[in-house]
Amino acid sequence: MKFALKALARYANSVRANGLRGTFENAAALIDDLRFDRIHGTETAQGVPLDALVVRGRNKHLGVEYTPTRVRAFHKLMAHLKPPVGGVFVDFGCGKGRVLCAAAAYPFRRIVGVEFAPELAAICRTNVAVYRRSVKSGAEIVVIEGDAAEYRFAGDEDMIFLFNPFLPAVMAAVLGNLHRSLRAHHRVVLLIVSNPDALAPVLAEDALLRKIDEYAYGSSRFFIYSNAPT
Ligand SMILES: C[S@@+](CC[C@H](N)C(=O)[O-])C[C@H]1O[C@@H](n2cnc3c(N)ncnc32)[C@H](O)[C@@H]1O
Repeated sequence: MKFALKALARYANSVRANGLRGTFENAAALIDDLRFDRIHGTETAQGVPLDALVVRGRNKHLGVEYTPTRVRAFHKLMAHLKPPVGGVFVDFGCGKGRVLCAAAAYPFRRIVGVEFAPELAAICRTNVAVYRRSVKSGAEIVVIEGDAAEYRFAGDEDMIFLFNPFLPAVMAAVLGNLHRSLRAHHRVVLLIVSNPDALAPVLAEDALLRKIDEYAYGSSRFFIYSNAPT
């Protein structure tokens, strides 16, 4: 009885905060997340506090702990964006690699994850290898162990994903490197920020990128920026 009352109260709170549709979407996303690791044999669900990790680089104090993207929300976002064939996708702060695995369902030529905690990068590599046994993808998937602020763009990345990985100071360094890359290798990029509250102010000031779209599924919110001409 107590359990049923608690569940009912949680449901009522969720409907108040997210509406009926948002509550349904959150429930569907939760179920997909629970199934994801079971289906693919990966381990992406468990969050990891940064305190528990050794980290490469100077930016540990500016990092956000590992929690995974809702895989259903990511797929809905990709259905909305329809990535073209042959693009290059980067997830800054890729953690255990759930987004890299999910991105393999789309026609990217290369998928790159950057993660500054070696322990997470190792789990990520294992997850990607295990995932590839059950899902065929032509994409090359690369996991780079290092600080996002020090990532040197190859010059062909055109879809950049960030799920609230770090504070604005690190984002500013990433944007500086992206600007240099765009000057050297002009191309149109989409930069997607999931859970965007912390990074939206620094992106609002950016000289090259402007917000062109936003998308939400359940409680997952995505802001989409681009340097595409208006
Ligand atoms: C919220 S999790 C996102 C995980 C993954 N992108 C996803 O969406 O499932 C943030 C991740 O960013 C990593 N991170 C934080 N600061 C970083 C930095 N400066 N360079 C690289 N990775 C960083 C954390 O270790 C953590 O794994």
